[in-house]
Amino acid sequence: MSQSTIESILQENRLFHPSPAFVEKARIKSLDEYKQLYEKAKADPQRFWADLAEQELHWFQKWDTVLDWQPPFAQWFVNGKINISYNCLDRHLTNGRRDKPALIWEGEPGDSRCLTYAQLHQEVCQFANGLKQLGIKKGDRVGIYMPMIPEAAIAMLACARIGAPHSVVFGGFSAEALRDRLIDAEAKLVITADGGWRKDAIVPLKDQVDKALADNAAPSVQNVLVVKRTAQNIHMEPGRDHWWHDLQAGVSADCPAEPMDSEDMLFILYTSGSTGKPKGVVHTTGGYNLYTHMTTQWIFDLRDEDVYWCTADVGWITGHSYIVYGPLSNGATTLMYEGAPRASNPGCFWDVIQKYRVSIFYTAPTAIRTFIKMGEQLPKARDLSSLRLLGTVGEPINPEAWMWYHRVIGGERCPIVDTWWQTETGGIMITALPGAIPTKPGSATLPFPGVLADVVDLDGNPVKPNEGGYLAITYPWPSMLRTVYGDPDRFRRTYWEHIPPKDGHYLYFAGDGARKDEDGYFWVMGRVDDVINVAGHRLGTMEVESALVSHPAVAEAAVVGKPDEVKGQEIVAFVTLEGTYSPSDELLKELKQHVVQEIGAIARPGEIRFADALPKTRSGKIMRRLLRSLAAGEEVSGDVSTLEDRSVLEKLRQRGG
Ligand code: PRX
Repeated sequence: MSQSTIESILQENRLFHPSPAFVEKARIKSLDEYKQLYEKAKADPQRFWADLAEQELHWFQKWDTVLDWQPPFAQWFVNGKINISYNCLDRHLTNGRRDKPALIWEGEPGDSRCLTYAQLHQEVCQFANGLKQLGIKKGDRVGIYMPMIPEAAIAMLACARIGAPHSVVFGGFSAEALRDRLIDAEAKLVITADGGWRKDAIVPLKDQVDKALADNAAPSVQNVLVVKRTAQNIHMEPGRDHWWHDLQAGVSADCPAEPMDSEDMLFILYTSGSTGKPKGVVHTTGGYNLYTHMTTQWIFDLRDEDVYWCTADVGWITGHSYIVYGPLSNGATTLMYEGAPRASNPGCFWDVIQKYRVSIFYTAPTAIRTFIKMGEQLPKARDLSSLRLLGTVGEPINPEAWMWYHRVIGGERCPIVDTWWQTETGGIMITALPGAIPTKPGSATLPFPGVLADVVDLDGNPVKPNEGGYLAITYPWPSMLRTVYGDPDRFRRTYWEHIPPKDGHYLYFAGDGARKDEDGYFWVMGRVDDVINVAGHRLGTMEVESALVSHPAVAEAAVVGKPDEVKGQEIVAFVTLEGTYSPSDELLKELKQHVVQEIGAIARPGEIRFADALPKTRSGKIMRRLLRSLAAGEEVSGDVSTLEDRSVLEKLRQRGG
């Protein structure tokens, strides 16, 4: 975040109350009601979650223990049997929602589809039987590398139905990034499409899969299932690759949901950390189902007539929890959009809202800031009167963007829920409940009932109101990550040991800096580790550095985030070159392209600066703090006495960096 954003957030004290009309119909109607619910949950969290699990979900068999907490390993609803695809589909066939639209899809260019609960159920059952035909069994991991088409959700639900954990890889990741994830998850099958539409061009997804699997680089993968979407020519490897429509012909639509253990793995989702390769965050079935169900219901204040649209991609946790599982578990109508705002169609989001009468809209601050730049005339020219609730996620929202969202998109009548959470938390942790909690622009407000959150110092002691500290969760919650796939030690180190446990009491370390104000409202300030957030996408500086040094010209690389008005942060890389190479514009372009090839376009550095040397301490550690100041164009302040060679800093400055 830029200094000016931090300052404006610190001075922010406006308070916005939901309108009486909103409150009247809201599920939770007042701050007092929220507080009572919160205190009840805090007094006995296990009882709170167990009551909801019983009322809200279908279980094939009830659990015997609500929570088994062997820090830092939690199990929820031990020995309970459940299937999330059953909860998302089958039960809505008999509760009056059979013919209700479950999934509305607006595709590119101009395609669309609407699947009712009965139709979605049928497609999922067929797909699940198709997976079985390919030899996929309970416990086998399945990679999903898809565009934003209904088949992506269908594939996820089909995997869940037969108990095969999915690992969705965002379609914007490169073949290399896909390969690493398939290898780590030991995926047996990859589900993909011939291509997807992205900003008026075709993304050749199947070609990327071919590259990822070339030379048997991911030997666990036995088959590739391809959905025909863009119909361009692609290579089909005999024996390995199958068209989905061929497999579907003659597949039965009868596929009962497999009763899964509550703690059976539902999915792995890779996310970036401050060290090493992306980690496979593991989520399990029962607790995740309950938590995403309850948070969707209360935070989005769902009603049966809502048309709910979350603009995320299913490749991220937001897409998993708040496009697919949470909304469908509640029997909602969820909208999926393949397109993105672009120069040729800058008003497309507002067209979608107008066309489908969207009532709940959930997007990212970076998108809002892009819309601000595009101008008010675009949304103003559309009918957005169907909207009743807005949400944001992914990064801190600056008050100016919040106010614009409130005024221009929300017509000053829609509450805004600013939702703080992470891939690891599985669901939203800190947020307003829109009919109950007055909002302050830039604050995610208060923890969800059942979530015990605090701002602490590195000894785990709560800091005073308005003092900065680390955001921590002090009690397990149902959708918490269970481990890092294949690396329980990394799980322990990353999340549970930054703040040492005291008397057996463990705190979950979120990696975010925050403060709580005098009303107990949380203000999340951003990451405190080497993770940067570029346009709401989470990237590890080390990942980008590894990508850079894998190029023969690069000797050393240091990557930092620089404040950016639209994207929140932008990647700036400082590189030193191997002896025979010298700086040039061509090399600069080549290095940027190299990072795109290694990771994906989301990691393209905004800036690369060539340096003779990097500023290091005497023990050889790169002094990132200095580089961050240089990248932001700020005066380097603070202690530089540990710098090994001061002339390095001087030279970097002279280079304009
Ligand atoms: O830094 C926080 C930021 O996004 C990080 C989590 O990223 P990821 O796992 O990719 O999940 C993003 C979608 C849930 C957090 O550690 N973040 C997310 N939401 C907010 C936020 N920062 C401030 N305010 C938010 N509402």
